[in-house]
Amino acid sequence: MSINDDQAIDQSSLDLAGSFLEVLRTRRSVRSFSDRPVPQEVIETLIATAGTAPSGANKQPWRFVAVQDADLKRRIREAAEVEERKLYESRANEEWLTDLAPLGTNADKPFLEDAPWLVVVFKLNRDDEPARETDQVYYTNESVGIATGMFLAAAHVAGLATLTHTPSPMKFLGEVLGRPAHERAFMLIPVGYPAAETRSPDIGRKPLERIMVVDAGEAPNADDPSRSLPSSMPPDPRNGLSGSPD
Ligand SMILES: Cc1cc2nc3c(=O)[nH]c(=O)nc-3n(C[C@H](O)[C@H](O)[C@H](O)COP(=O)(O)O)c2cc1C
Repeated sequence: MSINDDQAIDQSSLDLAGSFLEVLRTRRSVRSFSDRPVPQEVIETLIATAGTAPSGANKQPWRFVAVQDADLKRRIREAAEVEERKLYESRANEEWLTDLAPLGTNADKPFLEDAPWLVVVFKLNRDDEPARETDQVYYTNESVGIATGMFLAAAHVAGLATLTHTPSPMKFLGEVLGRPAHERAFMLIPVGYPAAETRSPDIGRKPLERIMVVDAGEAPNADDPSRSLPSSMPPDPRNGLSGSPD
């Protein structure tokens, strides 16, 4: 392979990576959904994509429960709002409420009934495959987090909106959905199309030089321009503010 071939491959990788970045930069959490239906095959494809994720010792310690039944969605909303009311009224400290303020969220969760699908991600605390040598699982939070991220990215690429919702504690999800005890609720994800009038809060992302360090070194210092990474990347139109930790 010539140097020119290597350069062409590098350029192609850069182009592809840049295209994916541009696609994912347009993903936003959506908290208001239309009732436009989404075919089950689409949800199946998104979950199959999530299932390609890497996992500790390939144990794939996840289960994705796709809920479309109106009564189940209503029960999930009611139970989630009980937990969320406690969060906003007493569980969250002042700092947490301060960090949530820019999002404009509150304890009302109509999207849990409006979205055509709720995908509830469970992590398995033991492997339940019938033909297994052992039932141990490894790095479950990391594994399920990666699979969930791949699900979110796949949904976005498919033109669908999602929200990563964590009404804590989430034990009620296992009860409402009749899940076995070794499945622990990890994330509640409404999936669908955004309502016509939906607006996302005006928040941005940290710039690359604040989240990346090349080789060894201290945490990047915001005031030291010499630590900025040389980058040909276009700036994030969402301006570089940090997001919320919720
Ligand atoms: C682990 C996790 C939990 C979250 N929990 C909630 C939640 O319970 N309710 C909510 O409205 N948003 C929740 N979010 C969404 C974040 O607020 C949102 O991702 C962040 O503000 C950045 O906005 P964006 O997703 O629109 O880019 C959660 C996000 C993550 C990753």
